[in-house]
Amino acid sequence: MDHRFKRWRSFAGSLLLLTLLVVVVGSAQSNPFPQSTLHPKGDFAQMVDKLFRTTLFWATLVFVLTEAALIFVIFKFRGKPDDAEPKQVHGNTMVEVIWTAIPALVLAMIAVPTVRTIFRTYEIPKGDGVLQVEVIGHQWWWEFRYPELGLTTANELHVPVGRTVSLKMVTQDVLHSFWIPQLAAKRDIFTNRSTTLWFKAEEAGDYPGQCAEFCGLEHARMAFQVIAEAPDAFDSYVSRMQATGVRAPEPVVGSTVSETPVRVAAMVQADPDTLIGAQLFMSKGCVGCHSLDATKPMGIGPNLAGIGTRRYIAAGWLEDTDANLSRWIQDPQVVKPGVMMPDLGVTEAEAQALVAYLRQH
Ligand code: CUA
Repeated sequence: MDHRFKRWRSFAGSLLLLTLLVVVVGSAQSNPFPQSTLHPKGDFAQMVDKLFRTTLFWATLVFVLTEAALIFVIFKFRGKPDDAEPKQVHGNTMVEVIWTAIPALVLAMIAVPTVRTIFRTYEIPKGDGVLQVEVIGHQWWWEFRYPELGLTTANELHVPVGRTVSLKMVTQDVLHSFWIPQLAAKRDIFTNRSTTLWFKAEEAGDYPGQCAEFCGLEHARMAFQVIAEAPDAFDSYVSRMQATGVRAPEPVVGSTVSETPVRVAAMVQADPDTLIGAQLFMSKGCVGCHSLDATKPMGIGPNLAGIGTRRYIAAGWLEDTDANLSRWIQDPQVVKPGVMMPDLGVTEAEAQALVAYLRQH
């Protein structure tokens, strides 16, 4: 056996092994890559995935047939040292018609489902069962509003399983792009108009989402979570969030505890340690940007109603642990440089009191 052929065979062997490995890892049951589009869990993402697989099928077929023909021709018509000059030809109408018609047919097989998917995914879902959500992109976090429920939240979007969610998206500053890989394809958010997107989660679970358009220093840390839950779990989430609005009047910067809302007063009674936190929330100026009431959108900093039970803080950047929350309150500019939240000179002890207070929201 010729030495060059042996080397070629070992190269082909390695390539085959590598391909098998990629296929095995890619089709593994558990999902170690939650930001992958290859495990769609919503109808929008499934449509896009189907289109991807259709295109991949045709591309693979073309690749295999072309390479097979090439290899066949290389070996079959290999020149030998004593061969005569081959017959010279110019043009062949039949071959040219065939190699124009076949690619045109393959392109049509890809174009028809592509155009159909584009139109289908751009439809705006209508009907009573559709849940409306407004998405507002901020540098660098996400604001979500449910206009029908009168709720505002940030960085964590709760949706019921099996119900179509219709998103209307705008930005507060620069361009962003909203993307939940397992549920829906990415769609840009512009400064001069609103864009729309929809999805329906088919399975309960936490789905990470990510800003997919470079939007400044902390673009990579502009993430969010979609929490898809059973309809009754979603309903109790809504009631919980609506209950954060049962209080009056709104606290203002510099107000004293005697002026604090009824709900805070009740909270302090239950846990006296949160008294300091409640005072600090006002005296440090947190209240100037953050609402603790899901029914009151402020739009400056993320709405903090429900912060006590969120998965992440700082737009998906840190797990919502006491230690992380305390660190974030003390040193926002170190944890996420360039973020709008200023360094408010909060000490360790003060941060702990604020954490205790926030944990009750
Ligand atoms: Cu927002 Cu990148």
